Amino acid sequence: MVLGVKVGKRNAEVVRRALRAAGLIDPRFRVLRDEEHVYFPILGSPGPGVLEGIEYELVDMEFPVKRRRPRDFIELLEGELSDLELAAVPRAIDLVGDIAVIELPDELLEKGEVIGRAIMRFYRNVRAVYAKRPVRGVYRVRELIHLAGERRTTTIHREYGVVFKVDIARVFFSPRLGWERARVANLVRPGEVVVDMFTGVGGFAIHIARRVPCRVYAIDINPDAYRLLLENIRLNRVEGAVHPYLGDAREIVRQGLMGVADRVIMDNPSMSHEFVDVALDALKREGGTIHFYHFESGERPVEEAVNRFTSLVEACGRRVRNIRYARKVKSSAPYEWLIVVDGEVG
Ligand SMILES: C[S@@+](CC[C@H](N)C(=O)[O-])C[C@H]1O[C@@H](n2cnc3c(N)ncnc32)[C@H](O)[C@@H]1O
Repeated sequence: MVLGVKVGKRNAEVVRRALRAAGLIDPRFRVLRDEEHVYFPILGSPGPGVLEGIEYELVDMEFPVKRRRPRDFIELLEGELSDLELAAVPRAIDLVGDIAVIELPDELLEKGEVIGRAIMRFYRNVRAVYAKRPVRGVYRVRELIHLAGERRTTTIHREYGVVFKVDIARVFFSPRLGWERARVANLVRPGEVVVDMFTGVGGFAIHIARRVPCRVYAIDINPDAYRLLLENIRLNRVEGAVHPYLGDAREIVRQGLMGVADRVIMDNPSMSHEFVDVALDALKREGGTIHFYHFESGERPVEEAVNRFTSLVEACGRRVRNIRYARKVKSSAPYEWLIVVDGEVG
């Protein structure tokens, strides 16, 4: 039984304010109502003056316990997993549209369904949960293991007003790069020509074309990424601005995009060091900006990336005029970072 205050509906709001001001409402329980009365669970009798002049009754009654929203999906797993297992569940998950992706250690895979269901209970809009394995191959695609919910890998992801149709089993897509895509799009000036050499489903290209009138050449070698790029161009209504190409960036640039660009985006961090000559070919003769993405794991990863970029540019006989910006974008593995370098090249 819990102590409560019973008041007529007419006085309920005044009483609620007075009890709250006196710190008397018991937050563990829900307020109850019937046709004529409201019942407030309280921590102790209202002292003199608290409800002065108001007709009320003190009652002992059952109040339903308030259901508190859990802190995170891990809390929902307490009692289902051992303490050791709980400690090993990664806190970070990727939400791509209505699909959740988690990097589960091998020893937790047999608990994958329980973990997947907890994720779906916590994130009410999630319809499917997968465990991801490391990215592989030229297309940078991940093997996925279904944990819970629908067996569907296609979804619509929204970020900064841009819509992406994605198939997480067939293309690379990271929601953690949303801020970075928006950052680069904000640097583009009207009328610029941009080459997005490794566009995936159109990540940078579509952000840019949505934000500023310009021309973006968007290239990817993965036919599934290209198919989704075409859909995303249409979904975001940037048909005139984004020009899609399927194929190897080296060949596409050499076949028709030599010396056209004010800006080149090189988001293929495991391979971009092999394509700096291609990015320089795509840049206008008078120079422009290159956004160089690379994985680094040394003591000073940002300096490593800047030095790597500078020496690769110089090895091609061009000059880095200025490093406008360089920073860690995200961690990519234990002791490894994705680094971006914005370099102005002459
Ligand atoms: C890290 S993903 C790009 C992600 C994309 N920028 C985004 O924001 O979602 C790298 C992409 O490079 C593509 N790729 C790999 N080698 C390529 C090449 N030689 N030419 C063109 N695209 C290539 C892969 O298919 C993959 O989609």
